[in-house]
Amino acid sequence: MEVLQVGLDWVPHLTVLHIFRCNEPLLATVKRRKLQWFGHVTRHDNLAKTILQGTLEGGRRRGRQKKSWQDNIAEWTSLSLSERLAAARNRRAWRQISIFTATLSPQRPGGEGTRFKLSNMSVPRLLSEETAKCYDNWSGNYEKELMTQLKCTAPRECADAMEKTMGGSNRKEVRVLDVAAGTGLCAEELVKKGFTNIDAVDGSQGMLDLAEKKQIYRRLICDFVGPKPLDIENNTYDAIACCSGFAAGHLKEDCLPELIRVVKPGGYIVITFREEWLHHYEDYKDKLEPAMARLQDKGLWERVSREVFPNFYPGKNGITIVYKVL
Ligand SMILES: C[S@@+](CC[C@H](N)C(=O)[O-])C[C@H]1O[C@@H](n2cnc3c(N)ncnc32)[C@H](O)[C@@H]1O
Repeated sequence: MEVLQVGLDWVPHLTVLHIFRCNEPLLATVKRRKLQWFGHVTRHDNLAKTILQGTLEGGRRRGRQKKSWQDNIAEWTSLSLSERLAAARNRRAWRQISIFTATLSPQRPGGEGTRFKLSNMSVPRLLSEETAKCYDNWSGNYEKELMTQLKCTAPRECADAMEKTMGGSNRKEVRVLDVAAGTGLCAEELVKKGFTNIDAVDGSQGMLDLAEKKQIYRRLICDFVGPKPLDIENNTYDAIACCSGFAAGHLKEDCLPELIRVVKPGGYIVITFREEWLHHYEDYKDKLEPAMARLQDKGLWERVSREVFPNFYPGKNGITIVYKVL
């Protein structure tokens, strides 16, 4: 039977697949343990280190090259060997990278079944460049994992909210900026509803390259959305759609004034994300919504709606918050 190497044990591949489907966090546990073992080994001199980082005497038999430990660690972290070794020497930093890496992909949530619950962990503040690198790496599998395996409803929910918000306006005329556009899943849903004047901004060129092939965007901007001004004039858009752009290591509250700047007065900002982040992610907990409220107090925008919906991913709530720019 085909087997999958898990830590130091060998577990039947089919068993893993079966459990994975019923209990997704198993994969997070596997990844986290493998990553943590890499860190442990890197910090200690022993035979495992020689095997992991060095080459052993003697050649290997011909045949298909197996995926090595290093390949897994490289793929999951998007770090070069020297970066991985440097990071792993710092025990605390490596532990956080392990947890984050295991939970970044939505099919690796830190939910029940993993030793580290999302609520117990402090997710490292990844630089935008590192997040973008993760997405560049993930882009080829992103849609398959998100839509086919996870049946993520967020792009449709975000587009539904946009439709509801824009009411009877002429949708072909509505100029929309898709923030953290990724491969264009949300824009595809917007197009189905008649919104066709859409631009994209995202920090990952890999994700945008796939989006471009769909020919739904008029302009694609590869940039990080944060406090720094984007290459967009004031009051350009009638609406912003931001689907799953708020997550650990993604957009932060410091980008909100920039989003407001590029939307015309009277325009709307529709933000959809996984609700759990609001309560468990250090950068958002007691920070994101209070920051939104402060911008309202300053008279920059006003909240139109805040709706929690089920099954962002199966069993996980999503939230859509809509603001009107003043
Ligand atoms: C979960 S994906 C969502 C993509 C798409 N909106 C969807 O619903 O499928 C998050 C996207 O946010 C982008 N991203 C994360 N942080 C960003 C930032 N600071 N600036 C711009 N894009 C960012 C990532 O590159 C990634 O494409």
